[in-house]
Amino acid sequence: MKNIALFASGSGSNVENIIRYFRDDTNFNFPLIISNKQDAYVHERAKKLGVPSFFYKKERFENGEVLAFLLKNQIDFIVLAGFLLKVPHNIIQAYPDKIINIHPALLPKFGGKGMFGSHVHEAVVANKETESGITIHYVNENYDEGQIVFQAKCEVLPADTAEDVAAKVHELEYRYFPEIIGKIV
Ligand code: GRF
Repeated sequence: MKNIALFASGSGSNVENIIRYFRDDTNFNFPLIISNKQDAYVHERAKKLGVPSFFYKKERFENGEVLAFLLKNQIDFIVLAGFLLKVPHNIIQAYPDKIINIHPALLPKFGGKGMFGSHVHEAVVANKETESGITIHYVNENYDEGQIVFQAKCEVLPADTAEDVAAKVHELEYRYFPEIIGKIV
């Protein structure tokens, strides 16, 4: 049985999808959710799902408090699902090759600082891309630069808005992220 912590900063629809997917699977346990945002909607979802969620501000990630909490709870693996804070060195060092992230575009394109949420899809549309998709990758010290584990593509049509692309990408996330987590962990 692997204990997996979910990190999220926003709505948490991926978090919810992942928890529901593994609900009856005794090999994977999702005992807690961590957010760097106190008012993130992921906390509401967590309540409904019956999974405890915790808010830690940035400094407490950086000063080792979050790491101590993860270790105390015997967390084996960390999944970032819409987590917007840079994971600090102390956590990366304690979890080598045990942190993965999902990025809502086809890295190495549209990655890096400032490339999150709707900004990514807006850039894809502005650049007249004909495809976008998802990238699941290991997390290292630099944004969006860890080893890529999986990508899936969707078509971007000339008339698509950033919202249209976001909807297609979310669909890919829901379809593939839990499955890939299962394989990697
Ligand atoms: C997803 O598109 C994810 O790829 C990105 O942030 C979004 C989070 O959505 N990193 P949600 O909070 O899971 O609804």
